[in-house]
This record gives sequence, C-alpha cells and structure tokens, in this order.
Amino acid sequence: DKANFRHFMAKEIHEQPEVVGHTLARYVDMAAERVLLPVNLPFDFRDIKRVSIIACGTANYAGYIGKYWLERLARLPVEIDIASEFRYREAPLSEGDLAIFISQSGETADTLAALRYAKEHRLHTLSVVNVTTSTIARESETMLQTLAGPEIGVASTKAFTCQLMVLAALAIAAGKARGELSEEDESRLVHGLIEIPRLMSEALNTEPQIDRLARDIAKSRDVLYLGRGTSYPLALEGALKLKEISYIHAEGYAAGELKHGPIALIDENIPVVVIAPYDRVFEKTVSNMQEVAARGGNIILMTDAKGAAEATIESLVTIILPDMAATFAALVYAVPVQLLAYHTAVVMGTDVDQPRNLAKSVTVE
Ligand code: F6R
Repeated sequence: DKANFRHFMAKEIHEQPEVVGHTLARYVDMAAERVLLPVNLPFDFRDIKRVSIIACGTANYAGYIGKYWLERLARLPVEIDIASEFRYREAPLSEGDLAIFISQSGETADTLAALRYAKEHRLHTLSVVNVTTSTIARESETMLQTLAGPEIGVASTKAFTCQLMVLAALAIAAGKARGELSEEDESRLVHGLIEIPRLMSEALNTEPQIDRLARDIAKSRDVLYLGRGTSYPLALEGALKLKEISYIHAEGYAAGELKHGPIALIDENIPVVVIAPYDRVFEKTVSNMQEVAARGGNIILMTDAKGAAEATIESLVTIILPDMAATFAALVYAVPVQLLAYHTAVVMGTDVDQPRNLAKSVTVE
C-alpha cells in the first residue's frame, strides 16, 4: 500500500534512507568500517583485466556511476554497455574477465540475453538484482542483492540508489583486493557510505522548494540536465525520469559537451538543471553555467553550501544539499533529481505510477 503517500513513487522516494541503509548493512561491517561481501567471489579481482557493466535504462545509469567508482577506486578498466548493444556488436571479450549485470526485476529480456551471451564467451558473470528469484539472479554465477523491497512505481527510484550502494561497496572491495586502497582508505570510504542514509533524509527536506520549482518546469517544453563526473550519468537519469513520467522532453549532457552542440538550444524558455556538488571539477561546471546564463537560460543548481557560495551567477535558483565527501554524492543528489521529476509529473496531472506506453518489467527484446 501507499502508506500516506499519493503515489507509490513518492513512497518509494521517501523510503530510500531506510532501504539504502538495509543494503549498506548487507555489504559492510559498520563497526569495523570494512566492506564485507555476503558471498565469496569465484574470481580474484587481481586477475580481471576488464569489466563490462551491462544494463538497460535507469539500471544502466547506475552502472555508469559504478564505472566511475571502479575505475577510480580499483584502477580497473570498465566499459558500460546498453544490454541491447552489447550483444550484437561483436565486441572482443576475453575469457575470465568480468561482466556485471544490473537489473531491478531480473527479467529484462535484453539484459538476460546479454548475460547468456557473456556466459557463452566464458566471462565471469555477476548480477546486481532486486528480485532474487528472477531469471537473471538464477542464471548468473554470482548474485548481489539490492534490498530495496518491492518497487511498484514504474519509474525506478529506490532500486536505483540501492544499486548504487551495492556498486560502491563492490568498488571498494575491488580496490582493496587489487591493492589500490589501504585499510585507512577503506575505512574512510566505508565511513562515507555509512553517512549516506542520514544525508539522503536531509536531502528529502528540499521537497517543498522542489514542489514550487516544479510549477515552472511543468510550463517548459524541454529541459536540459548537466553534470560532470558521476553527476553526468545522474544528469542522464534525471532527464530519463522527467520524460518518462511528465512527458516533457529532457536531455542529459556532460557539462563539458554543452558548447559542442546543445548550447544552440539555450534561451529563456529552457530550464537547465545543473547537478554539481563542490568537487574537483566544480570550477569547470561554473564556467559552463556562465555560458548558459549569458544566453538567458534559467539555471537550477543542485549543490552544497560551498558550491552555492562559489557559484556567483545571477538569476540562479539553488537547491542546497548537505555537505559530504564528493565520491558518493550521486546517492544523495539522486533524491532531488527524483523529486523534481515526481512533482513536475504531479503538476502535469499524468499517471505517475503507470506512465503511458511503459511496463515495469520489459520482457521483450
Ligand atoms: C526507468 C526504468 C527503466 C528500467 C529498465 C531496466 O525509470 O525503470 O529504465 O530501469 O527498464 O529494468 P530492470 O532494472 O528491471 O532490468
């Protein structure tokens, strides 16, 4: 049931601190500040030359963020693939490498077909799934469960952040196994993960402000989402979420790509959502925002107090998120991104939990 919420999607957004916390508890030893995977991996991360992450839609964007973490923390080369592309383009694959499949339902036809293809090519297969009795869970060599609980809203929210939590833990485990992270690094990173549920609860406090903003977004025909680093895949996710439930056209771009084409779209009618925690690339994102502002674009900046103080641009709406270590910020910034899509859809009066033309589980290729 929807508890006291109008839609399952709202309930599921609000459940995230709790279910992400459950997922965290399954993958880390909180007291010792160590990652503790619930299964023994049938491979050694030191032997893996390349990882392929394969998924569809929102799960693909979770994988994209996982790529940034695995590369940075474990120094592992990672490719991110859309399941329907991975299978048909005859990419060279090396026996013994690792393929990771991410799926809430565990029944997505393209992802399942890609899993079977990877097995034929003798890759190790690891799935991150929410439904443990699903076909993908059963057929993969290793299964890591997200503890999101049943997700009813067609637009994925809590499954996405739980996928991120599993991928973050896996990236730390891989970094440790490969000798790229010291015990101190591990404990600092795990400490950062332990903070996430509380920070997500704080991020939910932006809801009244986002509800007001949604009234303006609902008047737009197109919306742009920009980000750098892990905020780039989150920008893609934000655009997907908005278009699938509000039917407003939206695109996500890497902020640095703006001047290579999409800047032509900018005028006073197009809201530009910039996802930018204060991090190593923040300054670069500020200059991209200046490019938008100079052309009359309306910027909605999601950042922290420090970012807000540095971004001295006129006519800017800022959504202030809690201060945190930048590495895992995507887990927290996902919350306002989801809320913005949700409230815009509510203003539009669409069927939020059952958007037209979409099904919760896509079992045809
Ligand atoms: C978007 C959404 C879809 C799914 C995609 C994969 O909100 O829900 O893009 O993420 O269809 O589904 P699963 O994770 O079940 O494989």
